[in-house]
Amino acid sequence: MTKTIFASIAATMMAAALCYPVLAQLPDGGGRDILRMSCLGCHDLSPISGSGGFSKEDWEIVVKSMIAMGARIKAEDVPVLTAYLADAFPPRQRN
Ligand code: HEC
Repeated sequence: MTKTIFASIAATMMAAALCYPVLAQLPDGGGRDILRMSCLGCHDLSPISGSGGFSKEDWEIVVKSMIAMGARIKAEDVPVLTAYLADAFPPRQRN
């Protein structure tokens, strides 16, 4: 009984991971929810993950330009998000 419930929870979680590969791809961090809410409405993660990464200063410029294009993000969330982006997608990723 318990095992069955556990198996179905595991199956549901696996199905969710398959349905939302973008979310599974995102590293953990406080800014992840902000990113998901504010940044994945117009495009998926690919321009972000495929950017080659940026420094914190450059991510701030990117976030501000996205806000100028219509991204909706609370002012107090901007530093949290830029710190998260700099951490999750640092400039070293160029390949
Ligand atoms: C209002 C729609 C919209 C939202 C919301 C949005 N973007 Fe974008 N984003 C775009 C468009 C359109 C482009 C492609 C045009 C361009 O490159 O300037 C883009 C491109 C990008 C690029 C590639 C830029 C480049 O120069 O290669 C990055 C990185 C990016 N977005 C990050 C983000 C982040 C981070 C957020 C959340 C703060 C976000 N976007 C939210 C519309 C949006």
